[in-house]
Amino acid sequence: MEEAHKVHSQSPLYSDEKAQSPRKISSFRRHRYRTLGAVATTIAILGITLGVGLGVGLTNSGDAPSSTSTVTSDKRSSPPIATASQGLSCQAGSLSLLGGLNVVANTTPLWQPLPGTPWQIVLNSPIDASRSLTPALSVYDIDMYGNSALTIQQMHLQGIKVICYFSAGSWEIYRPDAGMFPPQDIGNDLHGWPGERWLNTESKAVRDIMANRIKLAAEKGCDAVDPDNVDGFGTDTGFPLTSGTALNYLSFLSLTAASYNMAIGLKNAGEIAANATCMVEFAIIESCIANGECDIYQNFIAAGKPVFQIEYPFGAPTRVSKQDLAKSCKIKGNEGYSEVIKGKELGGWVEYCDGTIFNTATYG
Ligand SMILES: *[C@@H]1O[C@H](CO)[C@@H](O)[C@H](O)[C@H]1NC(C)=O
Repeated sequence: MEEAHKVHSQSPLYSDEKAQSPRKISSFRRHRYRTLGAVATTIAILGITLGVGLGVGLTNSGDAPSSTSTVTSDKRSSPPIATASQGLSCQAGSLSLLGGLNVVANTTPLWQPLPGTPWQIVLNSPIDASRSLTPALSVYDIDMYGNSALTIQQMHLQGIKVICYFSAGSWEIYRPDAGMFPPQDIGNDLHGWPGERWLNTESKAVRDIMANRIKLAAEKGCDAVDPDNVDGFGTDTGFPLTSGTALNYLSFLSLTAASYNMAIGLKNAGEIAANATCMVEFAIIESCIANGECDIYQNFIAAGKPVFQIEYPFGAPTRVSKQDLAKSCKIKGNEGYSEVIKGKELGGWVEYCDGTIFNTATYG
């Protein structure tokens, strides 16, 4: 998104909010998760052991897509075109970027949320689903590592579909599997945030680790995954990543998620939005109003897939003025999107464009 941010740097909205890139948000997450650092450190060795075990399991079961395996995972069928005017439809088999991978059509459809579905996202601490969650919505995005299988089970009992967040394109020092990445696959710092570094997403070792993360998401009961930082191209990552490699990586992540019957979203990466629409079930985007780029995700709405939009206006998560709320909400370009107003820490606080505010319960 770096290029897009530059292109739109003259956006009249939020001239003081422009630094709100996903990088900055990641740093908030990092700081918050430092509070979980003790846990992460304690289980780091366990994580390595588990990771190796998972790797062996994947190899033995043939679940891991490779150039020689057959993956019964293309469960993406044409969704009903709701009220779309343009009627973009995604045919099974559209994941053609993994040339050489023998994809066998499977008739079990993946979870496909509808455009406009309201949602909530909480990444900075585990959520407390032991009692009825507020807001009472059918879609939540939560951290894959930070939340337990029990929490996800409790959410399912409340009729909630769970999207599990993890970083697919950056190395984060505090994650339990941080020690498994080959040093040569860990690249430059995310701009301004030393300690979180770009990954070589073309590396088989990195992909194996990400396949393990997706498997862990499946074991925890996640309905979908939200792989962040797939947009390193256009940034000085230290690796020759391009929009082409990003699409190839996304199709790998998508096929792997589908092999566990999980849906997947595209996170930001507007440059590849049009080409990626048929590889995923939804998009999750940040600051498209602030950056003046909402319309580039309209392909998703046309294909019957939701665009989950986050804006971080001044004042959130304490108090957003009526004027700022209005500027952060419906504009030309984000018609049909599922918008939340959040603080950059991505905690339990959320406001919706009708002015209603909720605080989702969290642990810690
Ligand atoms: C994206 O799709 C367009 C139109 O089909 C194609 O020309 C372009 O090469 C694609 N980009 C990549 C990176 O595959």
